[in-house]
Amino acid sequence: MGRRQGPNTPGIAFVTGAARGLGNAVAVSFAKEGAKAVVIVDINDEETMELGKAAVEAHGAECLAIRADVTQEAEVASAVSEAVAKFGRIDYAANFAGIVGPPDSIVNLDVAKWRKTLEVNATGVMLCTKYEMIQMMKQDSLAVEDGRPPQRGAIVNCASVNSLLTMPGTGPYTASKHACYGITKTAALEGRSHGIRVNAVSPGFLLTKMAEESLMKDDVVDSRGMAMWQYFVSRQGRSASFDEIGDVVALMCTPKMSLVVGQNLFIDG
Ligand SMILES: NC(=O)c1ccc[n+]([C@@H]2O[C@H](COP(=O)([O-])OP(=O)(O)OC[C@H]3O[C@@H](n4cnc5c(N)ncnc54)[C@H](O)[C@@H]3O)[C@@H](O)[C@H]2O)c1
Repeated sequence: MGRRQGPNTPGIAFVTGAARGLGNAVAVSFAKEGAKAVVIVDINDEETMELGKAAVEAHGAECLAIRADVTQEAEVASAVSEAVAKFGRIDYAANFAGIVGPPDSIVNLDVAKWRKTLEVNATGVMLCTKYEMIQMMKQDSLAVEDGRPPQRGAIVNCASVNSLLTMPGTGPYTASKHACYGITKTAALEGRSHGIRVNAVSPGFLLTKMAEESLMKDDVVDSRGMAMWQYFVSRQGRSASFDEIGDVVALMCTPKMSLVVGQNLFIDG
């Protein structure tokens, strides 16, 4: 008889930006892959947080929802502490909190919006990676395949195709996602001797609330916005579902991915 396939992610997952959208899909995928518990971290409203939590619980995992702003160091540190106080450890972390940034060209740059985009998408990822790694360095390893090195934790940061590519009118977002990949590569080198794997994923185009907002003019997705979306989807080949991102992130966290470190996996069809 062949060896029984166990759950792929039986430990504790910690996911930011997980009240809705891609972060929530990641949290649900961890639950589907057997996570004992999933911690969702977000600043979204109470109703969205509750919906996000219920989606995880529907797949049999315990879920703790924590309200925390990833740009605030004390809130990130406290979210990690609260998760560890309740579940003892963090085996998998996915940093998905993000904002789209202003659609303006560089000559029309609003410096406050630039700073805000960098604050959430770069500083937020840096702070979350920092406190997740501090926790993971203190833990014993998960069970790994015979002969493989320990895995004290795995972190996946959400970049974007804009971490490598760009288009006009995406200066702040593109810079923030290049930063996200830079943080990931450095964390990967600093983490590997501690048995911590850090990688990034770069989703293509998914019609989340964030994407919808980026297509809006005067609060509606008009024909210009729809045409832009259809162009993005045609470049991707087809539209994609959120779980196609979530499932990849959960799989990247399994110790079966032991030699996958510092990658930026494009998930764009
Ligand atoms: N949708 C796409 O096409 C696409 C493509 C590539 C990358 N991404 C990335 O995916 C990630 C998730 O985005 P989404 O498309 O699901 O958007 P979304 O707006 O549906 O979800 C983002 C979540 O992050 C939360 N968030 C924002 N700022 C936060 C903060 N300071 N602290 C804590 N939580 C905060 C929001 O409340 C929201 O729940 C982002 O990093 C985004 O850049 C999205």
